[in-house]
Amino acid sequence: MSKYLEEQKENIQRVNQLVTDLSKAGEVREQLAHYKEKYNRLIKKYEELDSVFQFHKRIVQNISSGIITTDQKGDITFLNKSALELLGYESREVLGKPIHTLFAEPQKVKEIFQQIFEQHKMFESQEINLKSSGDEIVPIGFSTTLFEFTNGQQGVVFIFRDIREQINFRRQMSRMDRLATLGELAAGLAHEIRNPLGGIKTSSEVLLETFSPGDFRAQLVSRVVKEIDRSNALLQRFFNFAKPSRPKPAFHSLPNIVDGVFLLLRSRMLKRKVSYKTEFGSDSTNIYIDESQFEQVILNLLLNAMDAMPEGGHIELVSSYEPHTLATVGQKEPGAILIRVKDDGAGIPPEKIENIFLPFYTTKSDGVGLGLSICIRLLDENAGRLEVESELGRGTVFTIYLPYINQTQQES
Ligand SMILES: Nc1ncnc2c1ncn2[C@@H]1O[C@H](COP(=O)(O)OP(=O)(O)OP(=O)(O)O)[C@@H](O)[C@H]1O
Ligand SMILES: [Mg+2]
Repeated sequence: MSKYLEEQKENIQRVNQLVTDLSKAGEVREQLAHYKEKYNRLIKKYEELDSVFQFHKRIVQNISSGIITTDQKGDITFLNKSALELLGYESREVLGKPIHTLFAEPQKVKEIFQQIFEQHKMFESQEINLKSSGDEIVPIGFSTTLFEFTNGQQGVVFIFRDIREQINFRRQMSRMDRLATLGELAAGLAHEIRNPLGGIKTSSEVLLETFSPGDFRAQLVSRVVKEIDRSNALLQRFFNFAKPSRPKPAFHSLPNIVDGVFLLLRSRMLKRKVSYKTEFGSDSTNIYIDESQFEQVILNLLLNAMDAMPEGGHIELVSSYEPHTLATVGQKEPGAILIRVKDDGAGIPPEKIENIFLPFYTTKSDGVGLGLSICIRLLDENAGRLEVESELGRGTVFTIYLPYINQTQQES
């Protein structure tokens, strides 16, 4: 009997235990629900943070400025897309490398980073040269920021921009400045010289009539008259350069102008064994320009190209329309017509290329050195510009930029 009771007692205890366990299960379930809610909230927060992170990452990656970050040793920890594109590297090729290895003047960069870390100096709108993977030198403008990680370590954010275009424009402006002063001087001088020359010519012509045609003195005096004519022609060129007449722009057919100039040079080109080809891209045949000024530009470029190929060669004139390019700084709507004049002549040594646009710079025994200065001047008057690329021994390309003007819009 007592055994039976014992058993019942044990059963009751087991049931009691079960009941307490069950009531605990409720508690556990409650806690579980609590944790689950917390977990869901965390997941939501994580997703929000992740989308903010992705948003910032996209901005950093797609911004047109290059961004490089380094650790406190100056070793690269991150580069955005623009930085990689400009440098021509894959991320893995440069990550972990010292940042100064990306520059043309590494010592200068080492000093900059030393000043950032030691004196907490910040650099703003400075200029320096990058060296791309293909060893191309790329001038950049840059700013730096020192920042501190949460673990107390420091790093640098290096933000930069390609400033090649800016430098080109800057050079052009200073060239124009110099040209303007020189031009005024030349115009004054030419004017002063032209008057006495006129007097000498008239006197010589009178004198000439006093000699019989066979007289050797008649030959001498007619030589004087010829030399005066040559000097006058030269002075006329000074004038053109110094004070180009106000352009009278209108719409003209580029192929017509170009064909006309080639026609003018045909016999000279045949004699010099120079062949040529022209190619006019779509949307690039209608130009808004002063016709005779533009003819002069093309003529000067073709004459130079021929001079660069004394043994004969080939000239190509190619035009194209570039909707996103600006012909000059002040142009309001983008869009330019590019006219490339390419020769396969002697080329220009890199150290001389800056000089060729200077007035009176010439390497020719019979050159005046005004051809290109006149081109620049005339193109400037017509809201255009001129650029050059050359490779010694291979040839030269001059590129004329003219603003693209849509005739239909202009007329409506
Ligand atoms: N296509 C070219 N290839 C090689 N060198 C060139 C070319 N065009 C110009 N140059 C260089 O630039 C210099 C200046 O050219 P620019 O036309 O201003 O003067 P120039 O031809 O010497 O004299 P001119 O006043 O008779 O034109 C030239 O003397 C020449 O050295
Ligand atoms: Mg010339």
